[in-house]
Amino acid sequence: MPAGSSSRNRSLSLSAEDRRRLAPELERARALGASGSCIALPEAAGEVILGDALDALPRIRPASIDLLVADPPYNMDKDFGEARGARMSDEGYEEYTRAWVEAALPLLKPEASVYVCCDWRCSSAVQRVLSRTLIVRNRITWEREKGRASSRNWKSAHEDIWFATASDRYRFDAKSVRLRRQVRAPYRDVGGAPKGWDDGPDGPFRDTAASNLWTDLTVPFWSMSENTNHPTQKPEKLLAKLILASSRPGDLVLDPFLGSGTSAVVAKKLGRRYLAIEIDAEHCLAALRRLELATAGARIQGYEDGVFWERNSSPRRACRPGD
Ligand SMILES: C[S@@+](CC[C@H](N)C(=O)[O-])C[C@H]1O[C@@H](n2cnc3c(N)ncnc32)[C@H](O)[C@@H]1O
Repeated sequence: MPAGSSSRNRSLSLSAEDRRRLAPELERARALGASGSCIALPEAAGEVILGDALDALPRIRPASIDLLVADPPYNMDKDFGEARGARMSDEGYEEYTRAWVEAALPLLKPEASVYVCCDWRCSSAVQRVLSRTLIVRNRITWEREKGRASSRNWKSAHEDIWFATASDRYRFDAKSVRLRRQVRAPYRDVGGAPKGWDDGPDGPFRDTAASNLWTDLTVPFWSMSENTNHPTQKPEKLLAKLILASSRPGDLVLDPFLGSGTSAVVAKKLGRRYLAIEIDAEHCLAALRRLELATAGARIQGYEDGVFWERNSSPRRACRPGD
């Protein structure tokens, strides 16, 4: 049975009624993308812009953005609908990255943080471009569970996210992104007290500092309600870590390559404002529908009780040692 017809398939699908209801919002997004005038900053919630990031970025007020999260097309052949990514030379990709980063730079506040997603192939180009104008602080590597095996190469099982800031005055809330790990060997001291762990209803656990190696993410698939048919959708949990660590409630998050809407949806769920640009109308529509759904439900899979949980664990599913 194809995944799409399973009764457990929770992927987003847009009904005719959804399309009719969201048509005015899509038109608003299109008008924002088409007009040559300045794009007003959102007072509350946010704004989705249907258009080309390189046209829209110069129309956003300078020094207005607290956090830039960008997941641009990687340097590979990929069909995004309106934007058909074709593999470029490494130099060509670096030039492409330089163009959009330079357009985004004037929009950053002096305290702003920047995250840029990439894969192994374009990671060095992204680092070089960012380090020319920003302070590069780290590279996060996250494990993708999925990946195509090859008989002539190592299967690609990770992606990178470069972290940079505009100055040394930046926000980083390490406490908000702790990872809750099950403790499989819950040692006690001579007095019988837990050594570095807590006992909870779901068994012994330890809240650990988030490192730059993430192995707790699941790429959205058909049984997750956040899943859409976007070909390179990021997990909400990934965006939640970036947004919680590097912004405050009410801050303005910019995403020049919105895709299916993940950054804006997570910003909304976490009480941040967003400005988000996407060139393809179908992806834009999916984002608008997800934003509509986020009004009713702010849950982020894998983030509960103010902590991130290991992959395939949650307050209900965490098992006790010996289970
Ligand atoms: C890697 S995807 C982003 C996926 C997104 N993070 C998500 O979770 O769905 C890149 C997106 O950028 C869009 N895009 C490509 N070129 C663009 C441009 N010049 N301006 C705006 N969007 C663009 C593509 O249509 C694609 O949806």
